[in-house]
Amino acid sequence: MAPKNCLFLIVVLLHAYLLLLVPVLCDDEEENNLLQGLNSYRNSLQLPSLTKNKQAGCLADELADEIKDHPCVQTVAANAIPAGTGSQFLNYPKLLKKCKIDPNTTGNGIILPVCVRKLVPTLVLTNYTRTGYARYINDSRFTGAGLGSEDDWMVVVLTTSTLGGSFASNAVDVVYGLFNYFLPVLASFFLV
Ligand SMILES: *[C@@H]1O[C@H](CO)[C@@H](O)[C@H](O)[C@H]1NC(C)=O
Ligand SMILES: *[C@@H]1O[C@H](CO)[C@@H](O)[C@H](O)[C@H]1NC(C)=O
Ligand SMILES: *[C@@H]1O[C@H](CO)[C@@H](O)[C@H](O)[C@H]1NC(C)=O
Repeated sequence: MAPKNCLFLIVVLLHAYLLLLVPVLCDDEEENNLLQGLNSYRNSLQLPSLTKNKQAGCLADELADEIKDHPCVQTVAANAIPAGTGSQFLNYPKLLKKCKIDPNTTGNGIILPVCVRKLVPTLVLTNYTRTGYARYINDSRFTGAGLGSEDDWMVVVLTTSTLGGSFASNAVDVVYGLFNYFLPVLASFFLV
């Protein structure tokens, strides 16, 4: 993950006692390049581009982190992993939770890990478009993607526009998050 291409988004909310820092967002060059390549491939097949799915991106990052020390294996279709909760990854339910993903919205998703030494961009792209993975990239059911990379590993998580593969945020968490965000603002009204 090259931090050189990072977009630092810092929101500072100052109100007497309150200082809120929204964490740094990193645009990973390798991931953006790959998504562009995948979308060119999709467009050449008359398919719409994959849109970035934030929750799936979070999951892809976490998964890349988890498999980065695994032996580098050749990409074959058999390596595609259904994204349902029965996934073979260690701590999977925990990772879903960390990424605020409702497990019920993952069943139709698919996880495509690839290992390429130094993540050489052309090889990474062809590992998705010229192997058994191609049939997932060339599938109109998938409309979104999350990408994550760590060392020699790239992970693409494909999502659908249907609820069963949308990787939607857990509604409760969203409400809770908003509440957490606005509570200090509300509180400050009463304190003025
Ligand atoms: C997921 O689905 C199951 C059964 O379909 C349901 O019992 C459960 O409450 C759902 N969980 C969430 C977080 O929506
Ligand atoms: C996939 O990547 C490996 C390197 O890990 C490379 O040897 C292989 O040629 C690539 N396959 C395709 C079809 O691009
Ligand atoms: C993509 O999928 C369509 C329909 O499923 C199929 O006809 C076509 O041959 C596929 N193209 C490639 C390059 O895999």
